[in-house]
This record gives sequence, C-alpha cells and structure tokens, in this order.
Amino acid sequence: MSTRIYIPRDSSSLSVGADAVAAAITVEATRRNAAVSIVRNGSRGLYWLEPMVEVETPRGRVAYGPVSMADVPSLFDAEFLKGGAHKLRHGKTEEIPYLQKQERLTFARVGITDPLSIEDYAAHGGWRGLRNALASDGAAIVKQVTDSGLRGRGGAAFPAGIKWKTVLDTSADQKYIVCNADEGDSGTFSDRMIMEGDPYVLIEGMAIAGVAVGATRGYIYVRSEYPHSVAALAEAIALAKAGGYLGNDLLGSGKAFELEVRKGAGAYICGEETSLLESLEGKRGMVRFKPPLPAIAGLFGKPTVINNVITLASVPIILDRGAPFYRDYGMGRSRGTLPIQLAGNIKHGGLVEKAFGLTLRELLYDYGGGSATGRPIRAVQVGGPLGAFMPESQFDTPLDYEAFAAIGAMVGHGGIVAFDDTVDMAAMARYAMEFCAIESCGKCTPCRIGSTRGVEVIDRIVAGRERERNIELLEDLCDTMINGSLCALGGMTPFPVQSAIKYFPEDFGAAAKRKAA
Ligand SMILES: Cc1cc2nc3c(=O)[nH]c(=O)nc-3n(C[C@H](O)[C@H](O)[C@H](O)COP(=O)(O)O)c2cc1C
Ligand code: SF4
Repeated sequence: MSTRIYIPRDSSSLSVGADAVAAAITVEATRRNAAVSIVRNGSRGLYWLEPMVEVETPRGRVAYGPVSMADVPSLFDAEFLKGGAHKLRHGKTEEIPYLQKQERLTFARVGITDPLSIEDYAAHGGWRGLRNALASDGAAIVKQVTDSGLRGRGGAAFPAGIKWKTVLDTSADQKYIVCNADEGDSGTFSDRMIMEGDPYVLIEGMAIAGVAVGATRGYIYVRSEYPHSVAALAEAIALAKAGGYLGNDLLGSGKAFELEVRKGAGAYICGEETSLLESLEGKRGMVRFKPPLPAIAGLFGKPTVINNVITLASVPIILDRGAPFYRDYGMGRSRGTLPIQLAGNIKHGGLVEKAFGLTLRELLYDYGGGSATGRPIRAVQVGGPLGAFMPESQFDTPLDYEAFAAIGAMVGHGGIVAFDDTVDMAAMARYAMEFCAIESCGKCTPCRIGSTRGVEVIDRIVAGRERERNIELLEDLCDTMINGSLCALGGMTPFPVQSAIKYFPEDFGAAAKRKAA
C-alpha cells in the first residue's frame, strides 16, 4: 500500500520551492522502493512552514516543514512516511495550535482536499448548498443569505442579501454574476488561497448566486499577477461543467449557469467595482458615476451581482447548514467568520479564519507570534492601502466592522500588515499619497491632483520647511480629498496619512507633534 503525501500547489508554496520538494520526494521514494502517492493540495495557511509536507498515517496527518530539497533524504531516514521524529516534525496537523484554534467555515476544505478533485469536494460536503438552492426558489435563497448576516468581504461590508435582492427584483433579459478577484489590497491573499486551494467552493457560490437572482452568466475577474489562480479556475470550471455543476442544465434542474475567467490588466482601481465592469467590457478601467448601481445597470448595462471571492465562497455553507448556523458566529452586526491575513513584519504570517470579535492583539501575538524581527510591533495597517495606521493603544479593538469604524479604522478585506518600531511613519504617509497618485484613474481632481500635491507637502514637512503651515495645508488637502473624491481611492487615502500624523507625530517633526497634542 502506498503512503499518501500532501504537498501544496498554491503560489505561496511554489514560490518557496514546493515543486522541487515534490520532485525530490518522488525520486527518493523510487530510490528506496517506497510506495508513495503525492496529492498537491492547497496551503493550510501556515506560511512560515511552507513548503509544509503532510504524511497520512493511521493516526491522522503529520506535518513537516518548512521542507527543502536537502531535507528529503533525512526525512526518509527518519521514517517520516510513518510519522517518524525529525527536527521539522510538528505533530498532527490538526493539533498545531495555529490551526486548532481557528473556526474554518469558508476555508473548511483548503489544505485538506485535492483542489481539483470534484469527488473529493463532494466527499467533504461540496455541492450540498447548490442542491438545496436548486430545490428552493430565488426569494428563499436570497432570504437565507440575508438572514445569515453575510456582508461583503471585499471592503465595504455591504449586506450581500440586500444586493442580491435588488438584482432579483430588477427584471431584465440577461443578468450577471461577477466575482471580484482583483485582490489588490496590500497584505491580502485569502482570495488567491481559495481560488487555488478550493476553487469549487467559489464556483458553487457563484452558481447559487445565479440561481438565486436569475443570472445565467458569470465572470471571475482575476488579477493577472495570479497565473496559478487563473489556471486552477480554468481547470475546475471545465471539470465542473463536465460534471453538470455548470452549463445549461445544472444537476438536471433545467436551470443554466455558465462561468468564465477574465484576466485583469494590472491596476489597483480595477478592483473598484465600476472600474472592474468597465475593464470587463473591454474598456479602460475608469470609475463610473453611481447611480445607477451595478445591481440595476451593471455589466453591459444589465443587473449585476458583483461580490468579492470570499463573500461568494461563504455562500455554499450558508445554503448547506442554514442561515442561523452561520449567523451564530461573530459579534454585533459582523456575523460569521472572517479569513484574516497576517502579513508584513510578523513571525507567523498566514491565514487565520475566526469568528468576528477577536482582538488585533490576539491575532498579532497569539497567532502571529509577534514581529519577525523580535522587536515591538509599533503599528499595523488593516484593510489595505486605504486603511488607517493603528497604534499599540488600539490593539485591543475587536475585529468588528463597527468597532473599527468607530475609531476611524476599517476591517476591509481582513489583511493585517505589521510594522516594528523601526518603521518611519512619515515615509508610510508619503507612500500612501504616492500610491494614490500612481493608481488614480484620473477622473476627478481631488484624487488625481491632490495625491501628487500631498506627496510634495509631506516632503516639505519632513524637510522642515514651514512645518506648521504645511501641516495645516496637508489637513486641508486631506479634507478636500475625503469630501470631494468620486470613489474611495481618493476618498480614503487621507486615512493612513491622517492617522500617521495623529498617532506618530514624532516622525513628522516638532510641529506635527504640537498639532496632534
Ligand atoms: C480603489 C478600490 C479598490 C478595490 N479593490 C477591490 C478588490 O481588489 N477586491 C474586492 O473584492 N473589492 C475591491 N473593492 C471594493 C469593490 O468596489 C466592491 O465593493 C466589492 O467588489 C463588492 O463586493 P463585496 O460586497 O462582496 O465586498 C475596491 C474598492 C475601491 C474603491
Ligand atoms: S477618486 Fe481617484 S480613482 Fe476614484 S474616481 Fe476619482 S480619480 Fe478615479
């Protein structure tokens, strides 16, 4: 009998040599006459252990990592095929505290199954949500999603059920489901992990959305920097179609849902939903005026549900286990779980899916293990490049949309980037403005011109030129951008800038300190 070995195939593991490790294990097994079968799974999200190799033993899977090619002979010597002791052994995978303490609903299968095996997906609870949806009607499906409390995981946290209801209630000859897989926020990778580690959960979520609102076509807009996601989705879509889970007769129901992948051209603004729609239509990614909402007139002017990958991938479990099951997790108006991404200067970077309500401190220290450099964590930026910088005094804030909004921060897509005490917050503020200047679509003046002027003003402050006057000017400029920009790129870039000045005035010189006090 052959021993099953799991070696991840996602971008993160490939970038640190997973293919070479898989090849080395195959060669060494042949040399030693050991029968092994290798499954290329998704990453478990314990990135500091990648490539993490798991061996299936009668007592469960045993994890070893990070494994390099050079470690392979010694792993065989240590009888790792039987779960033997080795310096890279971490015990049973499920018992690694980082994983054991998580509440994985959306990521329930990631790392466990073979991402492209439809049978494996079905054996682990897949397609049950779609079957329930096909046995139900549109209004009932939308009600389940509404009752679950699911809010958009792409950034704005808008209730998914309300968006779906608008599309359901708008009559048209054609409706669309669009998945936003542009994942442009700094420190975020949960969309990529789902697309590469469990693509069927996204396909199932989109098919359910189509059945719910009466949309027969869907598009997944993936950033071009994710070639492995594009390849995994293309293969999974072909297999799902062959299996009757997509196409013109979903599971014999007579209902149709076709799905295609589209590659983005590489612009942060194409993650903004209306720019994304422009780009999907083959035009330059420019923000559209709202109204009309995409739910009324979206892709090609037709009613369109546009949701983030994680939002859509959270739907199958809601339709499978019911709205109350999902709603039971979380706090306040933030229901369910959030796949949080720990990045930046952090010892244990990776993915943590937990119910809303745990604090930043728990995430940074209990999961993250503190900074990678061992120095104190001075600041974190949550929610991407438009999120405020949060000082240590705010680390006890619970992960909750409203709690974050109350202190001027945002949860966004759940990416947390940590910085130690060597960070220069004036340079970070400058970077925020510079990023906006580079990525601005150029449609409105406060963003297009304001961000460039913002960089110049910060440079003058840091150089000590008329500090007091320039700090006032910067505040004025931020105010104009917040109130005068058409979309959140220009409208929220001031938040990291203002928070950097407010909480870290010492990095901007004496005048900033006096003003913040
Ligand atoms: C500048 C900008 C960039 C954005 N980038 C993304 C992105 O990369 N992925 C995403 O899902 N949403 C992004 N959004 C949010 C989308 O506009 C939109 O709110 C989201 O796709 C809706 O899906 P949801 O309700 O499931 O979150 C961005 C918004 C702005 C203003
Ligand atoms: S705020 Fe910036 S990105 Fe948004 S519409 Fe205006 S110019 Fe374009």
